[in-house]
Amino acid sequence: MNMPLQAEGLSHWWQGLDAATADFIRRLPKTEHHLHIEGATPYHLLREAYPGRFPEVPEHWQVDYRFDSFQSFLEILAAHGFAWFDSPDRYHLAAREIFLNASRQNVRYMELSFDAFFSSSQGHCVTTIAEAILSAAPAGLTVKVFLGMTRDAFENGLEPVVRKALASDLVSGLDLHGIEPLPLREWTVDIWREADALGKVNKAHAGEFGPAQNVLEVIDRLGVKRIQHGVRATEDPDLVRRLIDEGIALDVCPISNWRLQVIDKPADHPIRQLIEAQVTCTVSTDDPFLFNNHLEEEYAFLANALRFNQSQLLQVARNGVQVALVPESVRSVWLAELDAFANA
Ligand code: ADE
Ligand code: ZN
Repeated sequence: MNMPLQAEGLSHWWQGLDAATADFIRRLPKTEHHLHIEGATPYHLLREAYPGRFPEVPEHWQVDYRFDSFQSFLEILAAHGFAWFDSPDRYHLAAREIFLNASRQNVRYMELSFDAFFSSSQGHCVTTIAEAILSAAPAGLTVKVFLGMTRDAFENGLEPVVRKALASDLVSGLDLHGIEPLPLREWTVDIWREADALGKVNKAHAGEFGPAQNVLEVIDRLGVKRIQHGVRATEDPDLVRRLIDEGIALDVCPISNWRLQVIDKPADHPIRQLIEAQVTCTVSTDDPFLFNNHLEEEYAFLANALRFNQSQLLQVARNGVQVALVPESVRSVWLAELDAFANA
């Protein structure tokens, strides 16, 4: 049974949106670039696996629920994630749900990460997990897998795990995530540069809970051109200029930012300012089990709370295709399809 991650009827991001825009969002061919598999626990499967242990509707799915700290978010994520992801097979099952859910929303390309510490502390081999995820991709959906690493990952003895991942074609790159206020460690710089030299495409979370300076730091020290979140870049106009000039993309997650109190009000979200300045922003769900969101709702958020018109929504979809890790021949076809969609 393929249940949506989200309980039907709970989403309010659509409310008040005109029917033509809602239809446009649903039909728009989309891409997703920022999703943590541990934050996408298939809740109905988890409940079936452990009868009576988890409530029918988790508290954090409530319409107005906002996490009071990143720590409390991490605790909820871990309590469910550790219970579910106890075998490669369960990564495969979770990935299958995520991908089918994406396909239903006209998503044709997806990048997702799994955390190195989380998986290896449960005894899983890093390439087996990447394979378990990739082999769940249905026809019509291109999937790329990234290895997530927290800022203190090497202190947890992960070096051999990362090296194994880097030697494998199954892993497209690294993604630094977790507690942003932790300082960037020296080993991170070395390993990101090594991954770069091996042709990986690397990312880093920054400018979510930390200042614009953190975005600058991961660009300069890790050499990344893909920032996860990065919304606090707007605090530094010179940095915004650099993002534009150097083609650095922000994989933004508006509903995550609202639920984690990165922004006060939906209408405050800086993605409007960033898109108007022509920064390459994409949108994603981040942790859909935690935030009770779908990719379509991220677009509904843009249209509803930030008054994005159809051409701006289309620009976000185009940005996704521009940064997708696909051959140029595929990119041209997808861009042409978006043009045809716009002109239909
Ligand atoms: N890991 C999962 N979700 C995250 C987020 N929003 N920020 C940093 N690390 C994360
Ligand atoms: Zn994230």
